[in-house]
Amino acid sequence: MNEARDTLVTLARAVAAFTAYGPAHPTREGALDAVHQAVARLCEVDPAPTFTFLGDEIVYGLHPLRGLGEWPWAERFSRVGVQRIEFVATPDRDDVSHFMDDLARRLRRGFAESSEARVTRPTSIRYGLVHADGLDGDGPESASNGAHVAGRPTDLELEADTVRWMESELRGGGTLHLAEAEGVVFALLQVMHQGRDILLPLTRLKEFDQYTTAHALNVSVLTMALAEHMGHSSSTVRRFGVSGLLHDLGKTRIPTEVLNKAGALTDTERSIIQNHTTEGARLILEHDAELDLAAIVAYEHHRRTDGGGYPHFHLHRRCHGASDLVHVCDVYDALRTHRPYREAWPHERVMKYIIAGAGSEFDVEVVRGFVALMDQGTRVATRVDPEPASPPVSSPGD
Ligand SMILES: [Fe+2]
Ligand SMILES: [Fe+2]
Repeated sequence: MNEARDTLVTLARAVAAFTAYGPAHPTREGALDAVHQAVARLCEVDPAPTFTFLGDEIVYGLHPLRGLGEWPWAERFSRVGVQRIEFVATPDRDDVSHFMDDLARRLRRGFAESSEARVTRPTSIRYGLVHADGLDGDGPESASNGAHVAGRPTDLELEADTVRWMESELRGGGTLHLAEAEGVVFALLQVMHQGRDILLPLTRLKEFDQYTTAHALNVSVLTMALAEHMGHSSSTVRRFGVSGLLHDLGKTRIPTEVLNKAGALTDTERSIIQNHTTEGARLILEHDAELDLAAIVAYEHHRRTDGGGYPHFHLHRRCHGASDLVHVCDVYDALRTHRPYREAWPHERVMKYIIAGAGSEFDVEVVRGFVALMDQGTRVATRVDPEPASPPVSSPGD
């Protein structure tokens, strides 16, 4: 991690020098040497270092990078369209020089006017906006310059990997980091705003846990689309997205043999599964007090508006608005997915179920918003369901 921090600090100093001094100025040349050496040192310990800038958060690989204090450059880079930097090979000095030139140009003129820099793209450094394929192609493109990175994740696999990593960390007693969840939500938002299919064709996920992962991502993106459609602010949309992503986190505490049981559940097994709501809320709060909304949603997302569902409330009260949104999106995604005991329902059938449940299972306004969202011509109906390997669950909302 020290090499990663050193690289960023050196990079920021050099960008400042590139912004201030013209070509061939000794300060600028010295700064370029320093970055080149720092990146080379980093590539010695990490063959493919990747930095992601999310607002003022920095993620190095899949982990948040701490220790830089109030480092303003993450936000600056992000603002000029450099949300991710990947060193796909140890760059030579020319590559670093082109990269620095483009960064400095973006910072001087803004992202929109930087397109002329694309003709001199370095081949060993990929950078640009984060989206489904990792980058938006504003950096060098593998197809055109041969800088393809073997095994580079596509189709939100990076995000799926992150969700799986988060879940396995928790199973092993590790920590839940807000930055990871926000990173995933950020990528999902990019996909959503690019007008692609907003439910995810995660057919490439072959493992048995694919349902959990696909479901978390789908509920998150659906919840954000719905929240945005209902007029919530962008920061609320993101918070709802994080809540959708983490709503079933409590399932990491359910023994695999119970979660994956194909036959009918015993009463004890059902209560273990239903306990994922309280367990999820506890886990989330235990790891990050900032995630209080996610904890509420994890707790409430199986509650019905008529007071039914679980967990049982001693006094009837309304659920948080975020829980109402996640509840509908949760049920939609669950019913659209193949289960061991039933085929995936067609879109129209699920919509009928949701409309029929308005006022009893679901909040009326949320159902109205959801129907309008779907009627708007979103591309959810074209969803490709995950392959049929989903674990059995106790209710449509799982
Ligand atoms: Fe659930
Ligand atoms: Fe769920």
